[in-house]
Amino acid sequence: MTRWSWWSAPRGPVRSTGPPATCRESPAGTVRRPSGTAGTAAARSQDGRRRPRGRRYRRMRSETPMQRVVCPGSFDPVTNGHLDIIGRAAGLYDEVVVAVLINITKRSLFTVDERVDMLRQVTKDYGNVRIERFHGLLVDFCAANGITAVVKGLRAVSDFEYEMQMAQMNYRLAKVETLFMTTNPQYSFLSSSLIKEIARYGGDVSGLVPETVLSRLRERLAEE
Ligand code: PNS
Repeated sequence: MTRWSWWSAPRGPVRSTGPPATCRESPAGTVRRPSGTAGTAAARSQDGRRRPRGRRYRRMRSETPMQRVVCPGSFDPVTNGHLDIIGRAAGLYDEVVVAVLINITKRSLFTVDERVDMLRQVTKDYGNVRIERFHGLLVDFCAANGITAVVKGLRAVSDFEYEMQMAQMNYRLAKVETLFMTTNPQYSFLSSSLIKEIARYGGDVSGLVPETVLSRLRERLAEE
C-alpha cells in the first residue's frame, strides 16, 4: 500500500492533496506507482539504481517553502499532553510556533509571561519550536507569521465538535487548515483545568506535567 507522509507529499503555500510526482493518476482516479517502484523507500532513479531515501527528501525539502505550523492554546499551564503534540508536530514540520493566547477576560493561574517561560523551558531541546504570544484572531496571527496550518490534539470525541467548528471557521476566514493529531492515550484524560483542580486540592499530578511546571504549580498554589 502506498504511504504518503507530509514530507513526501509536494508542498506549497496551500498543501496539495495530490500524490508525489513519482506517481501517476490512473484513468479511474486511483494512484498508481510507476513500474519498478515498490514504495517511497524503494524508489529508483531512471538508471534503475536504488536511491537513498534521505536524499530524495532533502531535495524535495530544499525546493519547497518552509512548512510552519502553529499549536495555539492557553497553556495555563502546559501539560505533558500538550508537550506530546508539540514534539510530534516538531518531527513532522520545519517549524512549530506555539502561540499562547493573551486573553484578558479569562482568569488564569499563570501570567502569559510565566506560561511562555515554562513553554520555552520545556521545549528547549527542540531546535524548531518557537514560543510566541498572540491576541485577536488566530488566523491573523497565522497570516502575520507565514503559517498555513494549525496543529491540534484531539483527546476524545468530546473535543471534536468544538474543534471542528473552529477548524471550519478558520478555513472559512482565511483558508487556514487544521490538522488533528490523536493524543497519546497516556494523556487523553489530561487538561490544564483538571491539573489545576487536582493540584489545588493536594492531589498528585506528577508525571502529568513537566517537572518545572510541577514545582511552579506547587509554589503558586501555596501562595493562594
Ligand atoms: O487552550 P485553549 O484555551 O482551548 O485554546 C483555544 C484557542 C486559543 C486555540 C482558541 O480560543 C483561539 O484560537 N483563540 C483565538 C481567537 C480566535 O481566533 N477565535 C476564533 C476561533 S475560530
